[in-house]
Amino acid sequence: MCGIVGYIGPKTATPLLIEGLKRLEYRGYDSAGIATMNGAGLESRKAKGKISMLEAVVEGSPVHGTVGIAHTRWATHGAPNECNAHPHHDCTGTIAVVHNGIIENYGALRQMLIQQGHKFESETDTEVLAHLIEAAMDDDPLEDAVIDALHLVEGTYGIAVISSRDPDKIVAARKGSPLLLGLGENEFYVASDVAAILEHTRQVVYLDDGEMGVLTRSGYEVLDLSARRVRKGVSRIDWDLDQIEKGGFDHFMLKEIFEQPQTIQNTMRGRLVVDEGFSKLGGLNLTRQQMLDLDRIIITACGTSWHSGIIGELYIEELARIPVEVEYASEFRYRNPIVTKNTLCVVISQSGETADTLAAMREAKRRGARTLGLVNVVGSTMAREDDGGIYLHAGPEIGVASTKAFTSQVIALALLTLKLARLREMSVVKGRQIAQAMLELPDQIQSILDRASEIEAIAEQFKNATNFLYLGRGYNFPVALEGALKLKEISYIHAEGYPAAEMKHGPIALIDENMPVVFIAPHDSVFDKIVSNIQEVKARGGKVIAITSQKEPVLEKLIDYEIRIPQTEDMLYPILSVIPLQLLAYYVAVKRGLNVDQPRNLAKSVTVE
Ligand code: F6R
Repeated sequence: MCGIVGYIGPKTATPLLIEGLKRLEYRGYDSAGIATMNGAGLESRKAKGKISMLEAVVEGSPVHGTVGIAHTRWATHGAPNECNAHPHHDCTGTIAVVHNGIIENYGALRQMLIQQGHKFESETDTEVLAHLIEAAMDDDPLEDAVIDALHLVEGTYGIAVISSRDPDKIVAARKGSPLLLGLGENEFYVASDVAAILEHTRQVVYLDDGEMGVLTRSGYEVLDLSARRVRKGVSRIDWDLDQIEKGGFDHFMLKEIFEQPQTIQNTMRGRLVVDEGFSKLGGLNLTRQQMLDLDRIIITACGTSWHSGIIGELYIEELARIPVEVEYASEFRYRNPIVTKNTLCVVISQSGETADTLAAMREAKRRGARTLGLVNVVGSTMAREDDGGIYLHAGPEIGVASTKAFTSQVIALALLTLKLARLREMSVVKGRQIAQAMLELPDQIQSILDRASEIEAIAEQFKNATNFLYLGRGYNFPVALEGALKLKEISYIHAEGYPAAEMKHGPIALIDENMPVVFIAPHDSVFDKIVSNIQEVKARGGKVIAITSQKEPVLEKLIDYEIRIPQTEDMLYPILSVIPLQLLAYYVAVKRGLNVDQPRNLAKSVTVE
């Protein structure tokens, strides 16, 4: 997500920091900033947009010094503008902080600090850190004040801090957000990603959660949050820059597939109240009464986001008992839809900029519906214009084919459903059962990813296929659509997703010994039904690839390839069953020698009609 770089040494800091930020731009950005220690005090500059904008600002109005920190932001709290860009400062302007991560209790901390007389300038969660450090700062070293501040904070952070009250020092700390120290010749770096400093050193010390790095002109030390020294090994980086940007993966798409244990955790973080079987969704902007009065929900989206919308429809109707319609945004915007004041229009979009979805949202608003955006990119047009929102917090998605945004969208829809359903008729026992199962999903996804080579082997068998059929029922029908879309867009193989039982009304005519058919067949309430559909395909010679969740003797003679996923609640299977399909599409495309991250004719964000 965001990026951090810091420098202390004999050289002028600004060019090194700007260059470091440019190396982090691939992670996504909406604004950037820099702070240096100029001998007399702190100087900082910020700019909205690309790093080149910050560069221009700094050229026109330079900052000086040989100690500095810098940040590229991908917004989570507060709009992407200059004011919310990092570094953030305390009231005295003597402390500067850059931060990656989310301070979950920032609302309460901000209130406390305001009552103590602190003045805030931005809407960010990060700014509380600067004021907490200010409140803790006395004549002791900077790291002591940072430790005191971090003891009050809940959430995740990778931070770098400088202060003119302890000028020859950078303090960095980590919990849940990556951070490393770079060791050069009489100079030291801190960075969230080795790409930022690779030009200058390959010797790094990786900080672990609960650790802090203290960099001075003469050396570095690593402490824990009780100020005890920690012995750390030094690692040598042998990767080149391209490998690093992709986290060691060959493509962004694969990196993003492998990020999903973390990204769905980010979507859930601070929102799931397991004991109550409930969710806290701060941005919903709906009163309890407005939620109870809802008589209809329209979900509108495009592509992959539309597929997650169908899963949302099944969730909400099943558990919250509110009628839901899912509409392609491109169709909705030109229809004459029935919208009442008690209609909620949910728009789902990774980018928050898709032209059709934006137009559909505006149309629903014009007709009097309240709008709710499930959006990944903070500060995007949809996020600014909706009446309420649930950010996905999945981090920048760079691969054109959407992967991690999909699973985060489904999680966000499950959170929304818990909220609406528990306000209505769903019991706490049922809610708790779902919430507990949601907590297990990150590890379960990881267990599927650990067996990616099995899926790669299946891809090898089918890399030359010309057609594919994907079949699923119930919650897994939208996954069939999504699996087919993934394959089509990156491998250029024709693929269709269908509800498994619909196959006999037409597509069954396509089946012969050359047709691979992917069945999504976990052991859920429609398992017996899907077995019959598998028999129909097998009887016609089709090649069956089945995604199952347990040993199924009934399937043994029917399937050619099996991909096993862990067991979960019926409604949560899509979050697991889609993972092998993303991997299958990825490996088939790679084996066909195609450009996975930038497939032909496609754009990441479709901002035209
Ligand atoms: C498929 C894909 C597209 C997008 C669609 C909507 O992999 O990426 O189908 O899902 O263009 O984009 P967003 O979610 O940004 O509105």
